[in-house]
This record gives sequence, structure tokens and C-alpha cells, in this order.
Amino acid sequence: MIDFHCHILPDMDDGSPSMDESLEMARQLALMGFSAILATPHLMEDYFVWQEDILEEKVEQLNAACRQAELPVTVYPGAELLLSPWVLDLLSAGKLPTLNKSSYLLFEIPLTQPLTEFCEELFFRLRTQGYELVLAHPERCLTFQEEPRKLLDLRKYELLYQLNLSSLTGHFGENSRKLAIDLLKQNLITFIGSDAHHSGEGRMGDIPSALEILRRYAGKDGMDLLLEKNPLKALNNERINVEFISPEKDGEKPGHKVSLLDKIFKRRRR
Ligand SMILES: [Fe+2]
Repeated sequence: MIDFHCHILPDMDDGSPSMDESLEMARQLALMGFSAILATPHLMEDYFVWQEDILEEKVEQLNAACRQAELPVTVYPGAELLLSPWVLDLLSAGKLPTLNKSSYLLFEIPLTQPLTEFCEELFFRLRTQGYELVLAHPERCLTFQEEPRKLLDLRKYELLYQLNLSSLTGHFGENSRKLAIDLLKQNLITFIGSDAHHSGEGRMGDIPSALEILRRYAGKDGMDLLLEKNPLKALNNERINVEFISPEKDGEKPGHKVSLLDKIFKRRRR
């Protein structure tokens, strides 16, 4: 299995604070049957800002430590990017942190705020530039809990959705749990991650029971798709075919999206 979202790298964000803890997280994930882990530290302006070379160095160090400890897991570089106007700076500088140097970008939006028009403009802009957009844990976002239909609407930007395992156990509350199960039933999920920040109880400890629940709703083939085939395609930078709603069908003209974004972009540059 491949963990698509994990804060396993030491001293990068609010995840693992040390190499010892990172190794313990890798050991627990390996014991539960994971053979690959996407390291996705937070990247957000003013809070967690790091350089790509630091990320690569830490991934290398952790992989070396895993080999030394004879753990059968490989860690791959990635990031969880908070969507904000700062993303435009990263985009223009060619510094968007994709997953394993693919075109896949894992991002999050603020959990309790409504989805802004700016976010939608950004989705359109990033898609037209060839990025594969993966929204982290939509089931945790208040705006989608209140109006799940929005997640269907956002398919017009070809968004892919990543579910947190511990949402299935109710770790993030009943609203997240219900939405998580609804999204699974509707086949709207493409990736699964632990989003673990440390070893032991909590998100990590919840994994075995979450996998049981996942098996109940996704079946053996679904588990294979979500935890093996889809993440492997992303790691290898292959396109994943899912059904999308086209902007044309929705009666929207993509052209105006670009021009509005350009306006925002130019305003920020002044
Ligand atoms: Fe996360």
C-alpha cells in the first residue's frame, strides 16, 4: 500500500519533530502493510516555508535510516500546499512543490472558510498549465460538509480528491465521517492518506480500523485502486482517468477565468 499524505519528515512542519520519530512512524506504517510513503510537509507562507533541496536531503536521510533499520518502505518527496495568493509567486518562480517531481500537486484549503472565487481561478490557471490537482481531505472542510454538491461542481476543474483514513473512524467528527463515506460511495475519491503527524495513537493508531471500514465500502478492487494503482500512477507521473464534468456542459466559458486570474496576477505584481 502507498500512503499518499504523511507528515513524516523530521523538523519540517508540525509533524515529526525528529529522525527517531520519523523512523518510528515508518516502522508503524510498514507493520500495517505500507511499502511507500509520500512525505507531504505543509508549505504555507509565513508558517512553514522550506526549500526543495532541504526536502530532498531529508527524504534521502530518512530512506537511508529505513534501509539501515531494515524497514521495507520507501519515502518519496512531496508537499501539502496551502492555497493562497502566495501560490502565484511560487507558480511564476517555477517553484510549485509537486509530488515526486510529477505534475501532481497536493493542496489544502482552510478547513473552516468558504471556498473563494480566487481558489476557483487558481484551479483553472493551474489546470491549464498542466498540473494535476489533488485536494487534500475535502471531507474535513466545513464548506463541503455543508454543501457536498460543491465537490461535484469542482470536478469541472478536474480536481482529484484525497481522503484521510482516520476520517472514516470519526476521528475528525461525525460530519467528516459521513462525508467521507458518501464520497467513497460515489466513487469521488482517487487517493487515500494517513495524514499522520506522529506515531502511536490518533491518526496513525486509527489506520487498521479505518482500513477495515474502507474495505467495506470500496471492496478489494477499490482498495487496490485507491492504495496501489492510483498513487503509483501519480508517482510515475501518469494520467489517471476519472470522469469529469466539462466546463462547457456547465455553461461556463473557460476564457473569462484566465482573464480574471490575469487581473489578480497583474494587481499583485504592481
Ligand atoms: Fe496534512
